[in-house]
Formats: sequence, structure tokens, C-alpha cells
Amino acid sequence: MSDVTPIATALPQRMGSNAGQRATRRDGVAKVTGAATYAADNQPKGLLHAAFACATIARGRVTGLDVDAAKAHPGVVEVITPANRPALAADPDSKPMRFWFRTQVLQDDRVLYAGQPIALVLAETLEAATEGAALLAPTYAPEAPRIGLDEPPYTPEAVGIGAPAKVTKGDIEAGLAAAARRLEVTIETPAQYHNAMEPHAIVAEWQGDRLVIDTPNQAPVMAAAAFATWFGIAPQNVTLRTPFLGGGFGSKAVLSAPQILAALAARMVGRPVKMVLTRAQMFGPVGHRGATRQTLRMGLDGAGRFTALAHHTIAETASFDEFIEAASTPSRLLYASPAIATTHAAVVNDIGLPGPMRAPGEASGTAALEVAIDIAAEAQGMDPIDFRLLNYAETDPMTGNPYSSKALRECFAEGAKAFGWAGRPLAPRQMTDDRGMLVGWGMGTANFPCPMFESEARATLRADGSALVETSLIDMGQGAWTALAQIAADALGLGLDRIEMRGGASDLPDAGIAGGSGHTASAGLAIEGAGAEAIRQLAEIAAADPASPLYGTGNAGVVARGGRLHAAGDESRGESYAEILARADRTALSGQAKGVRDPAAAGAYAMQSHGAVFAEVKVDPELGQIRVSRLVGAFAAGRIINPRLAESQLNGGMIWGLSFALLERAEMDPRSGRLLNADLGEYLVPVNADVPSIQTLLVHEDDPHVNPLGIKGVGEIGTTGTAAAIANAVWHATGVRVTRYPIRLEDLM
Ligand code: MOS
Repeated sequence: MSDVTPIATALPQRMGSNAGQRATRRDGVAKVTGAATYAADNQPKGLLHAAFACATIARGRVTGLDVDAAKAHPGVVEVITPANRPALAADPDSKPMRFWFRTQVLQDDRVLYAGQPIALVLAETLEAATEGAALLAPTYAPEAPRIGLDEPPYTPEAVGIGAPAKVTKGDIEAGLAAAARRLEVTIETPAQYHNAMEPHAIVAEWQGDRLVIDTPNQAPVMAAAAFATWFGIAPQNVTLRTPFLGGGFGSKAVLSAPQILAALAARMVGRPVKMVLTRAQMFGPVGHRGATRQTLRMGLDGAGRFTALAHHTIAETASFDEFIEAASTPSRLLYASPAIATTHAAVVNDIGLPGPMRAPGEASGTAALEVAIDIAAEAQGMDPIDFRLLNYAETDPMTGNPYSSKALRECFAEGAKAFGWAGRPLAPRQMTDDRGMLVGWGMGTANFPCPMFESEARATLRADGSALVETSLIDMGQGAWTALAQIAADALGLGLDRIEMRGGASDLPDAGIAGGSGHTASAGLAIEGAGAEAIRQLAEIAAADPASPLYGTGNAGVVARGGRLHAAGDESRGESYAEILARADRTALSGQAKGVRDPAAAGAYAMQSHGAVFAEVKVDPELGQIRVSRLVGAFAAGRIINPRLAESQLNGGMIWGLSFALLERAEMDPRSGRLLNADLGEYLVPVNADVPSIQTLLVHEDDPHVNPLGIKGVGEIGTTGTAAAIANAVWHATGVRVTRYPIRLEDLM
């Protein structure tokens, strides 16, 4: 370990000295040298390449495909259309599993969105497959697409992944009627596309009735089960490998139509098939963040306390399934008010199905709520932090339950201090820099829940004193290989260099999903349990062996440290793992465990990570050009396993927030229902020159309830609060409240 900065903790010593260290990424060298392989790097013998033809209309039917022309192209082997597509075991219009979305896998000639796969061409080369797909030259019977948030709304049951669409308490209208001040604002957020660096890809090979797949996926065991369901085979007959992802952001959490069709094609032709989506094809069949229109109504008493807070979201969904951006949910969690109403409506558009993307719900929800809060503070003539403190939720605003931990106050204080918030003028357009740029300061509250997923791991102590940890963990850049190895090292009483990790495959114990910012907590708890079980077995062997110095000690009386067991309170009385195993004539010993949150704690406490993000922007008064010149984020997310990686996650999250505030927007042509910027040239994401100096503070937080390790998660919270902090800073610089993201220079002129 290079530099070592342990985070002090008052938690019971479940963990040793590896947790809290700034270990560098174990996979870093492999990734920068190209030794780490990704799905599309696999080149099995006899490989065929697959390319899609995608619908160029948003709604209607395909009336013709020139299959003969495609088949006549040299190198083309097969063309799959609804006319010859072999049967699948699962009905694509059904929902046989949790986390399963209905999808278009050439079941008929209907077109439900632009970009939908309408045929698949297999060829000996990628070029031939691509050309073959182009030669299909589809004809259509088009219908006028439904596009935009003005379509007739309906009320859904659930939003996001199963959250209730409507949660209310108290009487909103009475609260508003009793208010000394009433405010209302409507804020729009655009459709955004994940745009991970690695596009969705698959190499599928059938070995008899076994399916072997390389494809990036955030939940390998669940994905293998989904493939098994699609193809009517046993889950253990699917091996899905996905050690590394070039970014997931939610879009690789579930399977999508292209992956299923590639596997189907491989079975049809009896050869391995590789399919890699083009960048343009990433805009349609693999999910996106749906656009929202959010209306916030606020009632304040004379002092500025909420009498009512209502947050209503209208969000787009697809015609064939439902995923609704849960944007109103942050208003259930952040502020005390006697009356709170959080509701959602959806509109059906002829678009690809939205899905989870980078803090789904919280990112777009805080982008609106935290601007509304800034507007309220302005109306009260209050500092935005003072306003938030006045309305601070000491308990869960909806249930009254205590928080498992909540160091948001400390985040405000530490973030404000680092940023230099004190002395900020209340009125806008008060500050300029030496180049005459308007300078503004804004802040926003960040929050994200702490879900955990069922997960399982196996830890094997080996005779050479090393250990193997096996679980289907995936690393999509977040550092899971490293942070989870740190947890394993502590659980096993070994140095980090003695831990070998094996992950990224569906035939390993199920690490659950790398999503919801819950991977470290979920997989970490399973690993910690597996390590403890291995040590328990080892201690049992030693305690029962008259030749061991530990003979007669109970398991509770033994400490595992540095590859050695010793009696509690007597370090000299002990021996190495290798010695114990050798005498017992064992080459290895394994413990296996599941990580499960205590259901009683889950029901008794509100569990959220919190943060405060501070932004400085500079706006050209003549050109309206907006630059973010500083970002400071202070986050309280429970125990931090690796501060270096956590800071990196949070920095990345704030960059996505900057992207949300100023850059990202999928531009839809409402006449055609087609996206105008389905490429990285015109779909704007931040480049280095857009990203300012970022300071991330990890605020100390002990959480004895969230799980036995006290880990909350840092994957997504950085994205939340940041867009609003920047929007509020733009207002502070210019006096202009822009209520549509991304904020562009023309909005300020
Ligand atoms: Mo994330 S959007 O929970 O994969």
C-alpha cells in the first residue's frame, strides 16, 4: 500500500486495517496496458459477425425487406427477420422475471420506436454484415409517432424499479392555503443516453445445449438466468463472463434485444456470433433516462418553514413497457413539512424504453427540487444553507422513522468551509472576476438511498497462506475488484497482496447487481461473512488439535491477523494458517456466506447517503457562455472502504452532474420521432476542458444499522444535487432562472 490514511471509526472492529486505505486499483495496470479483456475481445474459432438493421420510423409496420439483396452480398451467411426467426422459449411480450423488460426480438413486423432492431444479418466479416444490413432497404407503413410530454398522461402504479408512484402525507391544499408565501416552479429535464465508452457487445457460442456468452453486464448471475429463460435451458447451462465493463451506468443492468438475438442467431447457424452495437445503435434499444417535467408547489410560513411541499413529475415511457423516472422521490426524503405530496404521471411515447441511468430518479429529481429550494430561499431572503437547516428533516419526513445515520449538517458545514461560502452575497449578479465574467455561487443537497441486493461469496484459505475470493462481482470502472479485496483481506486476516479475486462470471456465487450504488455493501457483506466462516473453520481445527498452541481455545477466543491465528489477548500463543492446514493435511479450506441486511433494521430506519455540492460558475455577460470554475462536494456515505476510489466515484458523479446541468440532451425530432444527435459528436458530454477543479470531502459517518459493515455506497450520489448547484450558481451569476436542462447560453441572452 502506498499512502495510508485510515478513516477513524467508532464502529465495532468488524474490520481490520485494510479497510480505509487508499489502495490503488488492482486492475489498473491491466486496464491501461490492454491486458484486461472486454466482451468483444473474444475471438472464438468460426466466428460470424452480426449487424442490425434498425427502424428509421418510430411507429408503424415494416412492409418490405430486401433479404435477397442482403443474402447476395459476398460474405453474408444468414438474414434473420420476423419471417424466419426461430422460436424463443419466453414470450417477449411477457414479464417472467424480476428486472425483466418487454422487448422487440423480431417477434412481428411492428415498429415501436426508431432504432428498434428489425433484422439481423450474419456474415463472415463485420464489413459484410454491415453492408448486408444496409442492403435490406426496409419499406414501411408509417404512423404518426407520439412524442413529447404533452401526450395524454396516465397514473402509473410504480416508478423506477418498483417504488410507489404516489406517496403523500397531510393535506397539501390546506398547507398551501395556510401559507404566508406560496411558490410554484416547473422544471424540465431532457432525455439522456448512457453512452458508456464500451458499447453493448456480445459473443455468443453454443456448445451443444450449453450457452457461453461474453457480454458486459452489471449482474452476471441474473443475466445468465435471463438468458436461460429466453432459451428454455437450465441456468447452470449458461456461462456468462463479464469481468470488466467499459462503463455501465445502468444500461447494462438488464439484457436488451440485441444480446438475445445474437445468442439466438448463434444457435440458428451453429457458429459463434459476435455483435457490437454502433454508437448510433446505443440510442434506442438499450435504455435511457426519460425526459421529465416536474412541478413543485411550496407553501412557507412567515419564518420560512414549509407548510406544504408538492412534487409532481410527468415522465415519458414507451408503448410496450413502463419505466418511469422516479423524479419526485427526493421530496419524500429531504425536508420536514406537515404536508408532502409526491406524485408521478406518465405519457406513452413511441420511443425505446427508458431505464435506470446514473442515479435514476434522484439525479433528475434533485435537479428540480434543489432549484425550487433555492427559489424558496431567495423569496425568504435567506442564505440557501440556512433555509435548508430551517427545514432540515431530523427524521424520515414521510414515516417519522429515524435515519440509520445522517451527517448532512456536517456536509453543509464542511463543504461550505472548503468552498468559502461565507460572505456570499444573497442577491444575484454581484460578483465579477478580473476578466469581467459574471461569477455565481450555488449549492444543492445530494441524496441517494442505500439498497442492498442478496449476494453470496466463497473464501478459500490455501495452504500457501494465500486466499481466493470468489463471487460474481464485476468491475465497471468503480473499483469493485479493489474495495472488495480490501474487505476480504480484513475478513481473512491477510494482507491485500495475499488475496486473489475471481469474479465476473455467472458460475461463481452470486454477487448480486452492481447497481443502486449497493455493490460494495452487498458483495462486501457476503465476502466478509465468507471470510469469517473460513476463519471459524480454521480456528475449530486448531482448537481441536492437541499439537496446536491454540488447542482448547474456543472460536471466540481467537484473533486472525497477518495470516496467523492467535489467542485473544495473547499474541504469542498462535500459529500461521499454513501450519494449521498442513498439520490437518488440508490443501485448502472454504467458507461460504450470504450477505443480507437485517430486515428489522430495514423496516425501522430510513437509509440514505447525503451530501452537499457547491458550484462556482463564470458567465460571459456578452456571449452567455457558461463555465463551471469550481466544484466542491462533501458527502456522508457511511464507512468508506477506499477513500481514493470513493473520491474518484464522487468526482465522476459530480462530472455527470455538470453534464446534466450544461451539456447532455437527446434532441428529438417530434415529426419523425428520431433522435437528431445519436452520436458523440453532437450528444454533448464533458471533455477535460469542461471539467474544473473538483474537491471531494468524505464526511465521517458511523452507521450501525445500514448493514454490519456500515457501508452506504458512493456510486451515484455525486450526480445528485450537482446539476441544481450549477443551475443555482448560474442564477446567482446572472439573475436568470433557467428552468430547462441543460442550461445553454441562449437561455441567458
Ligand atoms: Mo445504476 S443506474 O443503479 O446501474
